[in-house]
Parts: sequence; structure tokens; C-alpha cells
Amino acid sequence: MIIAIDGPAAVGTGTLARGLAARFNLGHLDSGLLYRAVAARVLAGGGGGHDPDQAAGAARAVAMTELAEPALRREDVGRVASMVAVHPAVRQVLLGRQRDFARRPPAGTDGAVLDGRDIGTVVLPDADVKFFLTGSLDVRLVRRVKELRARGEPFIQARVEQDMRERDQRDRSRAAAPLAAATDAHVIDTTEIDAEAVLETACRLVRSSPRISRTKVRRKSGAPSDTAQKVRSQESP
Ligand code: CDP
Repeated sequence: MIIAIDGPAAVGTGTLARGLAARFNLGHLDSGLLYRAVAARVLAGGGGGHDPDQAAGAARAVAMTELAEPALRREDVGRVASMVAVHPAVRQVLLGRQRDFARRPPAGTDGAVLDGRDIGTVVLPDADVKFFLTGSLDVRLVRRVKELRARGEPFIQARVEQDMRERDQRDRSRAAAPLAAATDAHVIDTTEIDAEAVLETACRLVRSSPRISRTKVRRKSGAPSDTAQKVRSQESP
């Protein structure tokens, strides 16, 4: 099973992806980390993300093993990530990495879930299930601030807000693979619902997806038959 999740900054695509990965035994790739790893390499080389050749060179050098580096989560790295992400050559290199992950998910898993900005539209247009999360800027700002506090990262709230606005604008307006919902994506507005409710909604939609056979989901999620029965009856109109 292949699941694609997209959405703007701090909307909760990563949280949903981790939740679905646990429920359905899927490998998870946060594709934003690839762009962040490119940005970290560009920054380390004294660049600012504007030079396409330097950014493409950094993209070619990125290894999947670098993605666990905590420094990639920093706000300045995120800002430069959205700058390197506008270069088509960078996207082309990272496209291969993402598709490889989906084609060969980690051993022992039953598929892959990828989250980012263009997974359902460009990276995995044939994904079995696609989600596009939306959320007001205010609610996303609250989530990002909570995340920064939890990591103990110093921040200025007005700056975080400004960065998020600029990043969203850049992600939506770039020519190459802009942030957009695929026409066949389930759009979930997260403004009024918490992460758990988003996960439950998404799980229901996965189980009722015509591309996923119920038997397959039941077996993969390891749910006992009475739970599966309950899910089935909840899905019935
Ligand atoms: O964590 P957050 O939502 O703030 O961002 P991220 O997912 O780590 O992505 C960082 C940046 O990488 C985004 O602002 C995008 O510009 C870029 N990106 C992209 O262009 N395409 C993707 N599939 C994933 C991320």
C-alpha cells in the first residue's frame, strides 16, 4: 500500500504520516527532510540556496542516512529548504530518492507513506490513497511554536509567523511542482480537529478506499476480526 500526504508548513503531515505508518505497518519518508538535508549542505558550504548548480550538487550528495540529523529541523534550515526546493534540478534528483523509497520500502513493512508538498501530484501520482491537509495560518503557527518549545529551540514568534507566510507563498507559487492538492486527494481541514481525529478520519478513508481490499487492510493492520467488523459497520452509510 502506498499513501501520499501533502500540505503546507506545520499542518501536521508528518504526524499523520507517522500515525498511518504505525497503524498499517508502512515505512515512512518525510520528504521535507531531503530538502532540509540539501539546505544544510548548502548552508555548510556558505551558500544561501539561490544558486541552482550548488543546490543540485548538494542534492546529489545527500544520503538517506543523513535524514535523522536533529539539526535539519531548525527553522533557518527550513527557510533555505524552501529556496533550494524551487530549483527543478534539485527536485529531479530528489524525485528519484523518493520513488526508490516507495518502490522498495524498508524490509518487513507492507508499503510506504510519504509526506511533503508534491507527493500526490508529482512524486507518486499512482498512490493508493492521497491526503491533502489544510489548516488556518493561526492554528499552524500554534503547532509550530509548540514544536519549537518542545525541542527547546529559541525563537521569536513574529519571525516564525513571517517565515511561514513566506515559505507557503514560495511553495505555492513556484513553477516546479508547486504545493497543490491532487484532484483525487481527500482534503482534510485540520483547523478545528486535533491530530488524533485527523488520524482516525484518515484511517477510515484508507480502509474504505476502493484501491485497498478490506481483507488486505485487516490483515496488514493486525486488527482482530471484531475490530474489523466495527470499522466496517461504521463505514456503512
Ligand atoms: O516541517 P515543515 O512542514 O515546515 O516543512 P518540511 O516538510 O520539512 O519541508 C521544508 C521545505 O521543503 C518546504 O517548505 C518545501 O519548500 C520543501 N519541500 C518540497 O518542496 N517538496 C516536498 N515534497 C517536501 C518539502
